[in-house]
Amino acid sequence: MHEHAIHPVSPEWAANAKINAESYALKYRASIDDPDSFWLGEAQRLDWMRQPTKIKNASFDPDNFHIRWFEDGTLNLAANCLDRHLDKRGQDVAIIWEPDHPDTPNRIITYDQLYKDVCRFANALKADGVKKGDRVTIYLPMVPEAAVAMLACARIGAVHSIVFAGFSPDALAQRISDCDSQIVLTADEGLRGGKKVPLKANVDAACEKAKVRTVIMLRHTGADVPMVEGRDVDWHDAIEPHNAECPPEEMNAEDPLFILYTSGSTGQPKGVLHTTGGYAVWASMTHEYVFDYRPGEVYWCAADIGWVTGHSYVVYGPLANGATTLMFEGVPNYPDFSRFWQVVDKYKVEQFYTAPTALRALMREGDEWVQKTSRKSLRILGSVGEPINPEAWDWYYNVVGDGRCPIADTWWQTETGGHMITPLAGAHALKPGAASFPMFGVQPALVDPTDGHIVEGATEGALVILDSWPGQMRTVYGDHERFIQTYFTQYPGKYFTGDGARRDEDGYYWITGRIDDVINVSGHRMGTAEVESALVEHHSVAEAAVVGMPHDVKGQGIYAFVTTVAGTEDSEDLRKELVQWVRKEIGPIATPDVVQFAPGLPKTRSGKIMRRILRKIAENDTGNLGDISTLADPGVVDDLLANSPHAK
Ligand code: PRX
Repeated sequence: MHEHAIHPVSPEWAANAKINAESYALKYRASIDDPDSFWLGEAQRLDWMRQPTKIKNASFDPDNFHIRWFEDGTLNLAANCLDRHLDKRGQDVAIIWEPDHPDTPNRIITYDQLYKDVCRFANALKADGVKKGDRVTIYLPMVPEAAVAMLACARIGAVHSIVFAGFSPDALAQRISDCDSQIVLTADEGLRGGKKVPLKANVDAACEKAKVRTVIMLRHTGADVPMVEGRDVDWHDAIEPHNAECPPEEMNAEDPLFILYTSGSTGQPKGVLHTTGGYAVWASMTHEYVFDYRPGEVYWCAADIGWVTGHSYVVYGPLANGATTLMFEGVPNYPDFSRFWQVVDKYKVEQFYTAPTALRALMREGDEWVQKTSRKSLRILGSVGEPINPEAWDWYYNVVGDGRCPIADTWWQTETGGHMITPLAGAHALKPGAASFPMFGVQPALVDPTDGHIVEGATEGALVILDSWPGQMRTVYGDHERFIQTYFTQYPGKYFTGDGARRDEDGYYWITGRIDDVINVSGHRMGTAEVESALVEHHSVAEAAVVGMPHDVKGQGIYAFVTTVAGTEDSEDLRKELVQWVRKEIGPIATPDVVQFAPGLPKTRSGKIMRRILRKIAENDTGNLGDISTLADPGVVDDLLANSPHAK
């Protein structure tokens, strides 16, 4: 299929890895044939307050739909991430914080210290009136207090909802209101690549639309920000009166742990809800096996805590495993393009995990930036968030890893809680660009999108998962019907991922990308419907249709077709204004790459926009537009083609 070399498992990895080919096969079989025994065993990686005796109780059958794991067990995830490590590892480093700029002092936080910080902050939350089950919105930059806030919520049984600190006030307000959270945790400002992000000002603006009782604000850059009397509290004032003892709340395995909003193919982002026990087992197990993690190693996942990768692989997975997790405030290209690799050398990082978009951006700048650093400490590299093109894979492998470090191309989703399909370095020969094989307990299958029947062998199809796994989301917060509707109705009895995939003759899975109306921009999910609804909010816009387009660095870019209201001049100024408008409405990650004015959109006679045609135009693949005879007015296509930027 491709000429890129296949890399067999090295003898060292085969001999020393936690999972080798034989143990993978045995464990995988056991996880499917006897899930109860397998998962009871894996559950022992956690400390339970009450051991579960009921392990798997789940069915995707539409008539008997339910998902429960470890349902009579109780535990506290913060205690699993902290308390149980104190005896042996209290003095070990839990979090290394590397700031945006290398000259700013870093922070090294031991498990003892993190435990105290979490308990104090948990007490501060309780003093504010936060109780078990209450939602807490976190809008913080990449600072250790973000992890403290998450763990403090988990400790008292509050449900955190982290909103990425790049989202706009409107997007924040909507997420605060949707889960009715009374409290927001933020900082004066964030700092990324030397640029300040006005977090507190954004919270203030969001609070005009959402009802909030308390805002706790961390002083980070020291900016002068106004405080609202009776609502805003300084973080340090909030913790000041409290001691470092806060008993962990006893949580049922199925009690909610967090909500994380993510984009879907329709409507506004949905609150993906994860529960405690299954998620914890999943995050811990996958972190240990996929990264072959051993205590004492310095592990670095470069994702932001605003995304699920930050939840599972910066905070919960590593800390549950007693790891040293590196938290990086900055960006790969600041102050220069060596930044990632200098940080690797500074702390002797052994596992490094990032997104292909970052690799593609760095790859363009040339190998020197990498080669002037050592990177000898690296043992394994990870990739996440979007398909990694074989060229970027080869660069990661040969230039960053000097041909020594296996790459785990981990396919998973906000909904899945953790890794689902990934090669394991000690078990699987690597094929550049292939997500490869299922994690224990995961039963992937491909279905024919036209009729939903399962297709076997080397073929392509829509990627579904046939049965439940512990880390699976349990519901869409406040809208269980939407959960069922979104994931389980397209192919009844199966979880539909939204992705397409190919399985090759060796059984490797290759993810081909989203096949629904979700686009993946720099590894971030964006619903085309969200961008469309932001555009039509603008007074000059009558109608908008948004599709993905190929983009060299971002993977996919955003291509918007816009019909303006009658009498509007489709000017260059308006085009720029619309781009800014979307940035303001949603956030910079939603910035359209192309806005094409279109007097009409291609619609069927029943008024449905034929996105297939728009996608082809955006991809500049206009040789064969397929059958356009069902369009109400086939003439609009000529106009779209003539005015596409590709035509110019
Ligand atoms: O399309 C897949 C892509 O990212 C989507 C999930 O996005 P999100 O929920 O934001 O989670 C991102 C971090 C897990 C998937 O439906 N995706 C994620 N990882 C990969 C991937 N596509 C191909 N290969 C991957 N390794």
